[in-house]
Amino acid sequence: MAIKTATLDGVLTIEIARPEKKNALTQAMYQAMADALNGARDDKAVRAVLITGQPGIFTSGNDIEDFMQRGTGGGGAGSDRMDSPVFRFMKALLDCDKPVVAAVTGAAIGIGTTLLLHCDFVFVADDARLAMPFVALGLVPEFASSLVVPQLMGHRRAAEKLLTGDPFSPEQAVECGIANAVLPAGEVVNHARRVAQRFNSLPPGAVREAKQLMRAPQRELVLQTIRTEGELFAARLKSPEAMEAFQSFFQKRKPDFLKF
Ligand code: COA
Repeated sequence: MAIKTATLDGVLTIEIARPEKKNALTQAMYQAMADALNGARDDKAVRAVLITGQPGIFTSGNDIEDFMQRGTGGGGAGSDRMDSPVFRFMKALLDCDKPVVAAVTGAAIGIGTTLLLHCDFVFVADDARLAMPFVALGLVPEFASSLVVPQLMGHRRAAEKLLTGDPFSPEQAVECGIANAVLPAGEVVNHARRVAQRFNSLPPGAVREAKQLMRAPQRELVLQTIRTEGELFAARLKSPEAMEAFQSFFQKRKPDFLKF
């Protein structure tokens, strides 16, 4: 099972566990994470959610094979629509009314970084590398990152991350407001778990309403941005630029964009 879930001491842990593919996310994995997050809403035993990966890899983002299938018209009916598993996951994370804590070790690429924008606490290991290489893959930003990243750090620093897609360090993630703190790789999950467990001793109704108040002013704009990005993203999956990027990844060579 590539997504493992367990509830212990008030904390629902969602663990991404597909290390042989660097935790690349498939449609089934998005669906499993969406179901877990939606289930947490009505479960009184859950006071907070912890999202984590494997030692040395948080997630390498969307499965690129799945991108290729969607680009060539496969991937199942409706795979690019707002009811597809990836959008269900996005909506479930946005709608989660309990605190969500992320613990990131190793690479967090693509949605591995953009999902962090919608968590309440983010702790990154000293071995973490974050990147949003959508443009380098012939795509456009997703999960409202085209809105939230410039808001967090200003246009110039957002352009570094969204237009070049270059990886950035855990220290930079803290400095630009994506993460709370950097911790040694061996400690980050336990630290994040302790933060999540703090919600066992806080009043759940007040926590829920405070989180909703913090999110409400932007909620509709975030959803609208996800829809707008999603339409462009789906079209770009079919573009020759994206196909060249995907093929070059599996052929383990540099993409050639000079021909476009
Ligand atoms: N989708 C599908 N397969 C992926 C993947 C992804 N996002 N990321 C890694 N894999 C696969 C590789 O194809 C490889 O499979 P193989 O063993 O069958 O050849 C395996 O996982 C190991 O990956 P590899 O690239 O050899 O590991 P690495 O340690 O050298 O590099 C990463 C790790 C994460 C830096 C690198 O795999 C990478 O850049 N992945 C793609 C990230 C990306 O662009 N994601 C999309 C974001 S929108």
